[in-house]
Amino acid sequence: MKSYQTFLLGLGLASTMQLVSCSNNSSNDNQTMQTGQEIERVSHDVHSFAQPTEAVAKHLDLNISVNFDQKVIAGQATYQIDNITKTDQIVFDTRGLEIEKVFLGDSLAETTFRLGKEEKFLGQPLLIDIKPDTKSVTIHYRTTTAAAALQWLNPQQTAGKKHPFLFTQSQAILARTWIPIQDSPGIRITYSANVKVPKELLAVMSAENPKEKNSTGEYKFYMRQPIPSYLMALSVGDLVFEPIGEKTGIYAEPATIKEATYEFAEMDQMLTAAEKLYGRYRWDRYDLLVLPPSFPFGGMENPRLTFVTPTVLAKDRSLTSLIAHELAHSWSGNLVTNGTWNDFWLNEGFTVYFERRIMEELYGKDYADMLQVLGYQDLQHTLEEMEKKDDTRLKLDLEGRDPDEGLTEIAYEKGNAFLLNIEKTVGRERMDQFLNKYFQTFAFQSTNTDRFLEFLRSELIKGDEKIAAQIDIEGWVFTAGLPENHVKPASKRFAQVEEAYTNWSGGTPAASLQTKDWSSHEWLHFIRLLPEELSQQQLAELDKAFGFTKSGNSEVLAAWFLHAIRNNYTTADQAMEAFLTIVGRRKFLVPLYKELLRTPEGKKKALAIYAKARPNYHAVSTSTIDEMVK
Ligand code: BES
Ligand code: ZN
Repeated sequence: MKSYQTFLLGLGLASTMQLVSCSNNSSNDNQTMQTGQEIERVSHDVHSFAQPTEAVAKHLDLNISVNFDQKVIAGQATYQIDNITKTDQIVFDTRGLEIEKVFLGDSLAETTFRLGKEEKFLGQPLLIDIKPDTKSVTIHYRTTTAAAALQWLNPQQTAGKKHPFLFTQSQAILARTWIPIQDSPGIRITYSANVKVPKELLAVMSAENPKEKNSTGEYKFYMRQPIPSYLMALSVGDLVFEPIGEKTGIYAEPATIKEATYEFAEMDQMLTAAEKLYGRYRWDRYDLLVLPPSFPFGGMENPRLTFVTPTVLAKDRSLTSLIAHELAHSWSGNLVTNGTWNDFWLNEGFTVYFERRIMEELYGKDYADMLQVLGYQDLQHTLEEMEKKDDTRLKLDLEGRDPDEGLTEIAYEKGNAFLLNIEKTVGRERMDQFLNKYFQTFAFQSTNTDRFLEFLRSELIKGDEKIAAQIDIEGWVFTAGLPENHVKPASKRFAQVEEAYTNWSGGTPAASLQTKDWSSHEWLHFIRLLPEELSQQQLAELDKAFGFTKSGNSEVLAAWFLHAIRNNYTTADQAMEAFLTIVGRRKFLVPLYKELLRTPEGKKKALAIYAKARPNYHAVSTSTIDEMVK
């Protein structure tokens, strides 16, 4: 029992085991909005039915109520539109939405509409009949059980156990499952929202947020910087707010807030470091929302309010690079956005690079080097495992597929490695000037791979053949695999880990190894160094000396459980089952289920665990694991 308590306590869930087994100076930000033609040039999007060159949404007024009994969001979405070509139809994306009625203009004249043919992953186009001079459309709608963006949690699935909880996850193309919307990252809108929730709960969005509950249960939101649809976000729960700095703070359940404010106390310094690197923060406030453990990702960069998994609450601030990552998206992604999901590396590769620069500012090079090495290991692993070799190119071709398939370490770590290669070629100073200018030039716009490369050529390469050859655009962006001349990261701190590991392999008892002051990164490196085959005795020795099975660190646990599964170390079974039942973070679930599914006995275990755990997972995770266990 004590084996997994530390970790679960961290999530505020230890007691539920049985139950579970069951700024104001950016007012000109709108001026850079793109025209329909520009959107088309940058981002012909195969994952959206919208025709933004003809009629495009500019602003959304959302008026919804959140019904926890029915698990339904219902209300109206009113769009201010630009009917560019004076067409007689505007197209929105929907998936599993019930569209009730549609009205035009301020006079709210009812109009006709139809839902087009359903397509896999994409849902159905909503085709609304409009007039050449139509300025706005009002869509009355309600969500259904098919709303994959939404996870409705019962009280037992929260830290406080008393109130239900709801959160959305819109990236990549799930916004259309809870709002009828032109769901393409090349289209930006401002929005306001009026959200009605049960009186005991607080609603927060990717917008200007209330700091406390009111007596009416009605909350108003405003997002005045234009954002792409995948950044639409809402969460409703028993939430409190605690400030960190003047512009930063944390929303969490009362049971979690104290731990969270300790863990993320450095978010203000991160913001300062980020602004110093790449320019002014353009979104006024930067707050975090700590979610229940079923949140399918580590973090989601919803503007002004990053959504974050509680599995980074490690009590020692060891996993906060994730916050640096989501914060970095305030530039790479939210400010300058991938125009389509084929250009996803522009969001994530830049963000990983930026994340590690922030961490280097705060904790020094030796610290950032550890992150680089771990990331490089992830990249190597992905390159070995990936079956579709074409998907190891930075520029993807996801036509006819779920954009979720582009969510691999290639975008993150190969993207980062490409930027490290550019940095090595031109030097850090020029790199930083370049990135600064990139963010200023394309602020509040969508971009794509070609447009970035054009900028790279004109700003850095400037016809210099030697530089061009070293940067090797073709090799990095349009070719599978990793170019030979990439930067191979090395870490001083990891050299000591490797020494300790060698000593252990050579017969030194685990308990006598020099592991003092190791952070979770060192431990992760150590665990990854362990050979595939370990004896029961070796596993027990390591576990006794270092307490892996009862670690309070989710990264350490997930890495350790892989060895436990592989070598049938049943001592860890209970802890692993608890972990898989409570945690819904896909990055942890996938490798663990995959490892379990390799053997018939493992498969039996996996299916039994999944049967219990599935109700706790968000649709993003169940859709992946359903495929795996099929
Ligand atoms: N934006 C991503 C999460 C995402 C990507 C959700 C694509 C849906 C589709 C987020 O910024 C992210 O990268 N999260 C990582 C964090 C990490 C790399 C530090 C995660 O969740 O693991
Ligand atoms: Zn990211």
